[in-house]
Amino acid sequence: MVDNNKIEVIRLKARENYVPILQDVSLEFIEKILEERKPKTILEVGTAVGYSALCFSRHLSEGGKIITIELNEEMVKIARENIKDNAMENVIEVVHSDAYEYMKTLDEKFDVVFIDAAKGQYMKYLDEAMRLTKSGSIIIADNVLFKGRVLGEYNEHKHRTAVNRLREYLKRIEEDERLDSALYDIGDGIAVSYVK
Ligand SMILES: C[S@@+](CC[C@H](N)C(=O)[O-])C[C@H]1O[C@@H](n2cnc3c(N)ncnc32)[C@H](O)[C@@H]1O
Repeated sequence: MVDNNKIEVIRLKARENYVPILQDVSLEFIEKILEERKPKTILEVGTAVGYSALCFSRHLSEGGKIITIELNEEMVKIARENIKDNAMENVIEVVHSDAYEYMKTLDEKFDVVFIDAAKGQYMKYLDEAMRLTKSGSIIIADNVLFKGRVLGEYNEHKHRTAVNRLREYLKRIEEDERLDSALYDIGDGIAVSYVK
């Protein structure tokens, strides 16, 4: 069992250091979904300091597991320390890799895939998430509205690729007949796709 007091310390420290962990409202929303479904396996794309993975682990069913992927070495180190400090190293595995490259090597099916890493790669993550899920699984993506840029008239150069990819992501989950998707204006925008 994770220690909620320790999780609160991780949350405060992450905020102090500008680590982009899930917003409180987004976490609350996702945790409600997880609490209802009690998944056995979660694949997380983007670990940061392990905050969301630790929170999600509260809703796993008996014997459940989380694999979480992170590219930044310093983040991986902190996440592993946080997970160890909560005695969850047998439940949460932190993989140090580019998420897409690692996803391509997996071939098991997950109950939940949570996408929360490089916005420009969301379409690639979705392709792999489709392959790594089965009927009844869900794919959740955070930051899909990217501070209002995705549904607004964003034309600036700086984030153009990320914005375009997120628009493609939303179009794809709406049009793909294998998915039943909904977009929520919560936090930075959350897309939830049920695999039919
Ligand atoms: C929004 S943060 C994750 C927050 C975390 N899910 C939480 O709420 O506690 C996104 C993370 O994705 C990582 N990241 C960015 N590009 C990545 C990639 N190509 N592969 C794996 N991780 C990546 C970043 O280093 C960052 O730590």
